[in-house]
Amino acid sequence: MTEPFYVTTAIAYPNGEPHIGHAYEMVTTDAIARWARLEGRPTFFLTGTDEHGIKMVQTATAQGLTPRELADRNSARFREMAVRLDISHDDFIRTTEPRHYESVQEIWRRMAANSNGDIYEDAYEGWYSVRDEAYFDASELTEGEGGRKFAPSGAEVTWVREPSYFFRLSAYQQKLLDYYSANPDFIAPEERRNEIVSFVTSGLRDLSISRTTFDWGIPVPGAPGHVMYVWIDALTNYITGVGFPDELSERYRTFWPANLHVIGKDIIRFHTVYWPAFLMSAGLPLPRRVFAHGFLTSEGKKMSKSLGNVVDPHEQLDLYGTDPVRWYCLREVSFGQDGDWGRDKFINRSNADLANNFGNLAQRSLSMIQKNFAGTVPAAAQSAPDLAIVGAAISTIERMRLAMQTQQIHEATAELTSLLNAANLYFAEQAPWGLKADLPRMGTILATTADVVRRAAIAAQAFVPASAAKLLDLLAVPASERLLVDAVRPEGIPAGTLLPPPEPVFRKFDLGRAG
Ligand code: MSP
Repeated sequence: MTEPFYVTTAIAYPNGEPHIGHAYEMVTTDAIARWARLEGRPTFFLTGTDEHGIKMVQTATAQGLTPRELADRNSARFREMAVRLDISHDDFIRTTEPRHYESVQEIWRRMAANSNGDIYEDAYEGWYSVRDEAYFDASELTEGEGGRKFAPSGAEVTWVREPSYFFRLSAYQQKLLDYYSANPDFIAPEERRNEIVSFVTSGLRDLSISRTTFDWGIPVPGAPGHVMYVWIDALTNYITGVGFPDELSERYRTFWPANLHVIGKDIIRFHTVYWPAFLMSAGLPLPRRVFAHGFLTSEGKKMSKSLGNVVDPHEQLDLYGTDPVRWYCLREVSFGQDGDWGRDKFINRSNADLANNFGNLAQRSLSMIQKNFAGTVPAAAQSAPDLAIVGAAISTIERMRLAMQTQQIHEATAELTSLLNAANLYFAEQAPWGLKADLPRMGTILATTADVVRRAAIAAQAFVPASAAKLLDLLAVPASERLLVDAVRPEGIPAGTLLPPPEPVFRKFDLGRAG
């Protein structure tokens, strides 16, 4: 498949340091992007930071910084985290960049020029939640002590009254419903789709899209004193990142509309109601799919600064390294459901799947090749059990491909683990260590096992890229033969291939130790 593939994460607010939820979103999206590349698809993967809005102003003021200083400092933290997590993004966008101002002002102009009169001036009066950067209807709020009112997210709302431009969202109700029914895959998982369909069916109110009480935002063209509502600004990053407003650019023509926006479940309305309506209004093509993942808790509890249980990805990376952290995100949590970050579960998962299952299989087969065949891959005269495990590897990779097509990442990683379990069983049953007197048979078993490790490692590059690359190096697999087509071809590793001395690839962690 050589169809281009464009995938994005949400762009995080850099009002604080990144936490494990942000890491989770980057890692899952990265696995999807890497898988598309393994399929041979030209891929573009965008991530970045969402730097405007009142929340940034308030946080900066509280810290004695300007919003730009706060954004610069924390945006750099997000970039560093991406590097440490081995994220393969092609670009990192900051909404404070000039290219983005140009793009957002252009989309605004197109919405304003629309013959429906989609943008009009009025005054907004109502509730606003700074933490969510969102407007709320009184009916959506709950009341707390002293008449304080809270949004469904738990964030306190304040009453806002100011002149504002509005977007005629109400005119898009039917168009959106038509789009959802014509494109049943647009919103995933299914439960989220149902929620959005019923939200839109219940009616849409026009949306306030400019603010006049602060100036940390992108100016509305031709309207001094107005800056854009941060969500128009933020959502537009997805087209800025591929070159908008230059619609003739190679990148824009190749990659827009996006194949997939990966986001958290809290921001699905913005992505599946506002964003497609803005694009329709501007006459631009709509993204093909939005996938909402769940939220991570910490040892079973909601993460919050006040509880002091926010998981710092850097700390986890210091303790365990990149690939175990990635593997946990991709294997332990069902993508689309909520999940939990827990130390014991983490250690058990990493030890079982990576060190014991994958690592031991590679280490045992490769060191026996080293010892008994001077590091040269023996010839394989395969019979039924050998052919069966190779066949299992090929069919596993086909099933992984199907799972990844619908972002069932946890299914794909579970498939890989089952294959490695089966390969360990094959190795134990064939017991090559007892075949000193039958070297051709021992050679067949070792060559077959090494070949299954090769196939598994090719697929594993999407999930644990550095470890998989190391395994492929230990198997002397050329860089040009590391795509999925190479993992499912009938031929194994050519007999006579000289392998470097084996080295362990995965560490084992001790449950009993602190940390
Ligand atoms: N700036 C907006 C997104 C704009 S996209 C055009 C935003 N930023 S955020 O920093 O609050 O969140 C960034 C992403 O992280 C969102 O997709 C959000 O759902 C996700 N997560 C935030 N906390 C999370 C967890 N605890 N667990 C998993 N993902 C979480 O929203």
